[in-house]
Amino acid sequence: MNSETAHSEYMTYVCAPAQTQPQRRRIVNRANRMWAFSLLALSLALPAPGQTNGAETFKSKCAMCHGPDGLATTSMATMLKVPSFKSPDLVKAPDSQLIDATKNGKGKMPAYSGKLTDAQIKDVIAYIRTLQK
Ligand code: HEC
Repeated sequence: MNSETAHSEYMTYVCAPAQTQPQRRRIVNRANRMWAFSLLALSLALPAPGQTNGAETFKSKCAMCHGPDGLATTSMATMLKVPSFKSPDLVKAPDSQLIDATKNGKGKMPAYSGKLTDAQIKDVIAYIRTLQK
């Protein structure tokens, strides 16, 4: 290819609407997709306002006694005789029992009704279920 044809090919590529249109559309589409993807990623990363997060509640309110993994291996857990969430009894226990103990307390376990909403308690129990796996 000599420089003459190279140049005219370049001009067709850059200027001809027939060729640049679809190409530009592809670039715009790709940019839109990237934008939609960023929005999606952002919406997943930030919890919606008012939404409760079981993992956060567990970390801030329960982990100091139950241990960050819920297995009650910390010295605080030993001192208070906290059971591991992986103990067969607690794995078998229905949600209603765990929710009840969280709301009303049990032994040295403090009651959380009035401190956590029902939705927060439900979410933190759902999170505890993930620690039992
Ligand atoms: C001050 C320490 C402490 C904190 C904080 C604590 N727990 Fe406990 N938890 C205990 C102890 C002790 C037990 C064992 C109670 C018993 O069987 O006498 C227990 C038991 C439980 C049980 C099992 C109840 C059953 O049916 O045997 C659940 C479920 C539970 N805790 C959930 C939670 C959740 C959810 C939180 C946070 C919102 C939390 N705990 C915070 C000390 C604590």
